[in-house]
Amino acid sequence: MNRIEGRVKVTGLATYAAEYPVEDVTYAFPVQSQIAKGRVRHVDAQDALAMPGVLAVLSGEDPPPLASGADGELALFQSREVAYRGQIVAAVVADTYENARAAAAVVRVDYDSDDHDVSLRADHPGLYKPDHVNPAYPTDSEKGDIEAGLARAASVVDVVYETPVLHNNPMEPHAALACWDDEGGLLVYDTAQGTTLSRDTLAQVFGLPKERVRVVSRHVGGGFGSKGTTRPQAVLAAMAARVVGRPVKIVLTRQQMYDVTGYRTPTIQRLRLGADAEGRLTALEHVVYEQTSTLEEFAEQTATPTRIMYAAPALRTAHRLVRLDVATPSWMRAPGECPGMYALESAMDELAYALGMDPVELRVVNEPETEPDRGLPFSSRNLVGCLREGARRFGWEHRDPTPGVRRDGEWLVGTGVAASTYPARRRPSKARAVVEDDGDFLVQVAAADIGTGARTALTRIAAEALGVAPERVHVELGDSDLPEAPVAGGSMGTASWGSAIVRACEELKSDGKEGLADTTEEVQGDAAFSRHAFGAQFAEVRVSSVTGEVRVPRLLGVFAAGRIVDPKLARSQFIGGMTMGMGMGLMEETLTDEEFGGFLRRDLAQYHVPACADVPDVEAFWLDERDAELNPMASKGIGEIGIVGTAAAIGNAVYHATGHRVRELPITPDKILMPRF
Ligand code: MOS
Repeated sequence: MNRIEGRVKVTGLATYAAEYPVEDVTYAFPVQSQIAKGRVRHVDAQDALAMPGVLAVLSGEDPPPLASGADGELALFQSREVAYRGQIVAAVVADTYENARAAAAVVRVDYDSDDHDVSLRADHPGLYKPDHVNPAYPTDSEKGDIEAGLARAASVVDVVYETPVLHNNPMEPHAALACWDDEGGLLVYDTAQGTTLSRDTLAQVFGLPKERVRVVSRHVGGGFGSKGTTRPQAVLAAMAARVVGRPVKIVLTRQQMYDVTGYRTPTIQRLRLGADAEGRLTALEHVVYEQTSTLEEFAEQTATPTRIMYAAPALRTAHRLVRLDVATPSWMRAPGECPGMYALESAMDELAYALGMDPVELRVVNEPETEPDRGLPFSSRNLVGCLREGARRFGWEHRDPTPGVRRDGEWLVGTGVAASTYPARRRPSKARAVVEDDGDFLVQVAAADIGTGARTALTRIAAEALGVAPERVHVELGDSDLPEAPVAGGSMGTASWGSAIVRACEELKSDGKEGLADTTEEVQGDAAFSRHAFGAQFAEVRVSSVTGEVRVPRLLGVFAAGRIVDPKLARSQFIGGMTMGMGMGLMEETLTDEEFGGFLRRDLAQYHVPACADVPDVEAFWLDERDAELNPMASKGIGEIGIVGTAAAIGNAVYHATGHRVRELPITPDKILMPRF
């Protein structure tokens, strides 16, 4: 299907959070901390208040009240402590955006500044073991004897891989428009991946009953996780609107987004792999070091994919965190799996070379019967099928594994492979389906379409459940007044909302007028399976022996992701993920400012992402898989698996091209050329 909202989007008629026409609107602009750690001693708003159009300056001097217990990133102005450079410490509200911004520049903030620590190290004395890692996995896992497994191995790989701070860059910046009504009810147009969750969060932060809060996000211009939880702009807009008694609009600048809308934690990952002469793993250990803030704990689940990938009699994973004077890390596409599989799949490639074995065959030899960690059966797997089909389509068969020997003028040419995985979960959701006056069908669910095509996919699911043409189904989403639904996140959206829609449509068919569904019981009754999508990623690279630049003439992925609801939408998700994975492999990196705290490279001039010219040939295919254990559609989520493994496939191809192993992302020209000097 084509996107239902395609026409309104390309004609500029789709309304995003900051674009709702609201009378008497005012504008807020944040003031951000200039220090990385310490306290705000005093905020002098006098000059700002004298500027044209200024209505208020908010700060910790006279903090507008919030309910206690709010997330540290959302409890604006409630404490004078500064947790990181760039934290919001004040805000100006004015009649225009320009006036608010100009006045924010003259708000004077005095600080008592302490020494800060913003550097992640694997030997940091502050490292600790969190209670669990996101969203609720055990922090560590241990099975068998790693040391014994390594001792009896024919080949051992013991390596450290590192990934940098990464930032989501949705095209639509984080924005919010808040209005209070005369009865104290709050309406927020927000950039949210889930309006139910955002409503609940805002209700909690402002101490309101849920019924008094409404969040609307009809169109969202990308999120990737950065809009998965409520971000400060929504709280600030609502707080400021209450203070000035008028609607308040906030649009964060790209630079402010880097500071306050979350990022992927940097990781340091040590992998120890041992295998016998046939390539069967005798030991697999994955230990991860990563950061969180002093405000909140965010424990990325980086080593969790290692628990399900390969059969190994000894398998150990561990996560250690350190609290630094940084913003709290947050969700970024395929949190955990993406950085974790980069390291694991790179190390597997190293093991293949150590054994003199084909990397596809090494993975096939280590295919487990059941989930290695918990022993659960897989609801479906098909990783081997993806590897085989990918190898066939990519032309892997005649590959000479020798590194650094294929030359085309100044270019060294190589190919690489990596596996991919992402959990296939679902969560309880509600939905409503009714017959409209004209005989068409209206389907309502507080789902979010963050640019993925969810609105279109859900229309197709409803049409199939009702047995009617998609043109006769209208899906309404993006509003917390609709039946409650989980976020567009964790690749769970379509599975969760779709389950509820199918049930609502079934009820409508028997009832004739209305179907209401709540899948809480159904989801709680889901049988114990290891539920994951899998994939295989293949990359060809050309590395300039003169400049060290890496080009990627070909990317090819094959996925086992259950029944594909709509091929056009699915292909777009897969190749979008793969392209983002290529950015991770070669370009993306936010530098931490060691001296002053906060981040350097806070815009798209310096934080590079692939453009169309960087991906001349990216192809996604899928196996014909139907996983009836998962949901009525037999589908798996596809929003995140595409990014998993791409960076490893590219890194492995760079090794094959050059004979040089880069273990630190991104693979930039300096890291290719440096070893030669
Ligand atoms: Mo995605 S990081 O689960 O929004």
